[in-house]
Amino acid sequence: MNNQEYYISLDIGTSSVKVILCEMVQDSLTIIGVGNVRSQGIKKGLIVDMEATVQSIRKAVEKAERVVGATIRDVIVTIPATQATIQPSDSLLLLPEQNHEITSEDIGKVIEGAQIISIPPEKEIINFVPEQFLVDEIDEILDPRGMTGKRLEVEGFLTLTSKTMLHNMLRAVEKAGLNTLDIVLQPLGAGMMALSDDEREHGVALVDIGGGSTTVSLFYRGHLQHTFSIPIGGERITSDLAIGLSTSQDEAELIKRKYGHAFVDDASDEVYFSVPKVGSDQHQQFNQVEVADMIEARLEELFYFIQDELARLNVRDLPGGFVLTGGVVNLPGVLDLAQEVLKNRTRAAVPDYLGVREPEYTTSIGTILFAHQMAKLQGISLTVNTSPNSESGEVKSNKNTKPVKQKNTMQDEEKDDKPSAMKRLLGYFFD
Ligand SMILES: Nc1ncnc2c1ncn2[C@@H]1O[C@H](COP(=O)(O)OP(=O)(O)OP(=O)(O)O)[C@@H](O)[C@H]1O
Ligand SMILES: [Mg+2]
Repeated sequence: MNNQEYYISLDIGTSSVKVILCEMVQDSLTIIGVGNVRSQGIKKGLIVDMEATVQSIRKAVEKAERVVGATIRDVIVTIPATQATIQPSDSLLLLPEQNHEITSEDIGKVIEGAQIISIPPEKEIINFVPEQFLVDEIDEILDPRGMTGKRLEVEGFLTLTSKTMLHNMLRAVEKAGLNTLDIVLQPLGAGMMALSDDEREHGVALVDIGGGSTTVSLFYRGHLQHTFSIPIGGERITSDLAIGLSTSQDEAELIKRKYGHAFVDDASDEVYFSVPKVGSDQHQQFNQVEVADMIEARLEELFYFIQDELARLNVRDLPGGFVLTGGVVNLPGVLDLAQEVLKNRTRAAVPDYLGVREPEYTTSIGTILFAHQMAKLQGISLTVNTSPNSESGEVKSNKNTKPVKQKNTMQDEEKDDKPSAMKRLLGYFFD
């Protein structure tokens, strides 16, 4: 066994399934391999065809396995926010003696306690996010490890989602032969990757424009406060182009990626291209302005929907403005259009790691960062231990195949009589 820590995230998106394997050395992340394949069986972030989804996951995993020469089994699954809600929760742990030094295990226990709460029967908890710890009533503590006290309290919030949706997602992962080590709500991961501490503190809207939907997540006072989704994404733009250009979906997707522009004022009427007409062998000529007209109309509609929803939520002041991410942000002009409609600062968030410098990877990378941070606080290891497979020359996961978070060996004995939230959750679904 070697010392490297490996993490693998799985994002089952509407347009593509993304598997990312990375190495973490002292909180510094390096990408080792990526598997990205077109999705089948997902619509607006939800599974509509289980078998097709499982096949897509398998293909993405196999692609990543070929890149890294390793067998992938243990993954951190990112869960779309389409049906997510957020609610506050807290918990108190009485420590055994006056001068007890707080350990990761105590933190794990108090966080566990915050998840024992009555929730609607159709909902399931995804994550508990601590906002602050209190040790003997001293508040605003971010990491109480090593402090001494009699009472350890935590205040934070839970993210919940539809039990059915989560069940189907985890079932697809299991059917693809994978083991779920942890689950992370997409905005928590994306927010960790895309936003600065200042933006999160003062107020910012993170806008993830994916293939099937757009998720807007509001952060202020340091944390995710609210999230909502709009069923418009890049696939709708492709459909618009297919109709507008009288061509196939596949051809429209190619045109969008090659010549697409979201801001008519900056598109060029000198960029011409020929498009095959659907059902015939004829071609038609179009220029970039004509395509930009269609793309701008759809994205403008999306930004107006966002503006209306923010007004309905009474969100008037966003000092951090709008941070845009997701595959559609690859389109030139999208920031200018967003700025014109939303009348606030806009910037794009793209992961700054070799091999994944594309906005569609923000969620995948952020998921690993978020899971790593939470696991570290609780003394849990989510890393995939690896050892060289001498016969094949491959590197193969030797991770325990049980679908539970793996505690550090020092705490292994306590592990089985105090099941983690993840174990409870997976036990509920799969026992
Ligand atoms: N260069 C590009 N130009 C225009 N659009 C692009 C480009 N690259 C990707 N896209 C679009 O981005 C969308 C996919 O983005 P992303 O991978 O973030 O979505 P997803 O995670 O699969 O979907 P969702 O989050 O909605 O479930 C597709 O509609 C795709 O056409
Ligand atoms: Mg996505």
